[in-house]
Amino acid sequence: MTFDPAVRPRDHFTPQRGWLNDPNGLVVHDGEHHLFFQHHPHSLEPGPMSWGHAVSTDLLTWTELPTALVGSDSEHIWSGSVVHDTANTSGLAPDGRAPLVALYTRFDPATGIQSQCAAHSLDRGRTWETYAGNPVLDIGSTAFRDPKVFREGDGWAMVLVLAEDRTVELYRSTDLLTWEHASSFGPEGFTDGVWECPDLVVVPVEGTSETAAVLLVSVQAGGPGGGSGMQYFVGELDERGFRSTQAARWVDHGADFYAAISYADGPEPVVQAWMSNWQYADRVPATDFRGSMSLARRLSLRRRDEGLVLVQRPVARAGELVVELTGQNLTDTLPLPVEATSYRVVAEIEPGTADRLGLQVRVGEGEHTTIRIDPAAGTVALDRTRSGVEVHPEFPAVHTAPLPPRGGPGGGGPVRLEVVVDVASVEVFVGDGELAMTDQVFPDPTSSGLTVFAEGGTAHVLHLAVHV
Ligand code: FRU
Repeated sequence: MTFDPAVRPRDHFTPQRGWLNDPNGLVVHDGEHHLFFQHHPHSLEPGPMSWGHAVSTDLLTWTELPTALVGSDSEHIWSGSVVHDTANTSGLAPDGRAPLVALYTRFDPATGIQSQCAAHSLDRGRTWETYAGNPVLDIGSTAFRDPKVFREGDGWAMVLVLAEDRTVELYRSTDLLTWEHASSFGPEGFTDGVWECPDLVVVPVEGTSETAAVLLVSVQAGGPGGGSGMQYFVGELDERGFRSTQAARWVDHGADFYAAISYADGPEPVVQAWMSNWQYADRVPATDFRGSMSLARRLSLRRRDEGLVLVQRPVARAGELVVELTGQNLTDTLPLPVEATSYRVVAEIEPGTADRLGLQVRVGEGEHTTIRIDPAAGTVALDRTRSGVEVHPEFPAVHTAPLPPRGGPGGGGPVRLEVVVDVASVEVFVGDGELAMTDQVFPDPTSSGLTVFAEGGTAHVLHLAVHV
């Protein structure tokens, strides 16, 4: 029994060859979602980065295009963002045209200096020209990176990190090429690891016409699943900058959701992450490629007693309905007639008298990954103790997080689960997207089963559907 690294996930983007990490330059433009990404095309290890490129119209099927920005031994092209400069404020396009403009970090391995550079494209991101006046922002720092640009009124704003300081710096510009420092945020929240890949996103509050500013910050160490993690701050953004109005929380409670940023110019906030962890990313089984993106996730905020909580809904394939249960009592483990390595389970289960309940996915001989709800403790666990090839023995194999409110009177009510399994990953959403947990798993391809279980009492499956 062993994992086969040649098999690609079905709906998660992987590069044709080589190493992948952060998503870069996410933008919706001319009917396409552009996914640029940190890419070291000729190696399964990180190295001098380039920007790989893929496009999609549904966020599930991807077409990989030629490398967009080619790095070299003397100039590594690190993370950044793309905007559509509709009014040609940059002047980078000929009159009457509107360029896509990329802002990225140039890493100079000779000096360690990280400076911000620009490039533009006039052909829907297919080819790029770097700006002759690069860098556009250089403060002589060796830990200053990951510019994320967004529109602000008629002008532009950009957030990037002073990674070692654990701060997010806000700059403003009228032309994308000259940048003025405006304000600084942090250190605050989780600060065990260096800060990376910030994004400031306007997110709607469910059931209202309100929005709030959400600052996403990736933290390289000390995450909830061990190693890299992502935090968010809900707050306010005005001319003085960003201020948090509530304590930091984790975006995802698993180990493999990092460096997520949002798509520019979409109709709603949608983020996508690198589905790995700097602590072991280079140990993940691989042959032709190493690394994949998460599914894209739609963001909203939900009002709770403790404040506004981030809600994430995956953009998942509808798929074919292969199993459906309604109104069924559950006292032990019920195997479901599923044989697949990619599937999606949506379930609503009333815990009843059960001590524990949940799902086992990718079930095979001696292998399974467990999603376990403990109603009394009020926890959800994603357990990859028996998930297949172990690449991170020094990290906890069980990730545990607080169970979101179930919505019933007196704290009762059904647990709502959505689980997306795709060859080498499990993404779990609990409570209508209120809690997310993402882990890579490396099971044998024959571990293709699925069970639903209850222990120590009777749970009630109100509804359970499996789509492949
Ligand atoms: C985050 C990161 C960024 C950097 C890039 C280099 O994963 O470390 O801070 O720009 O990866 O590949």
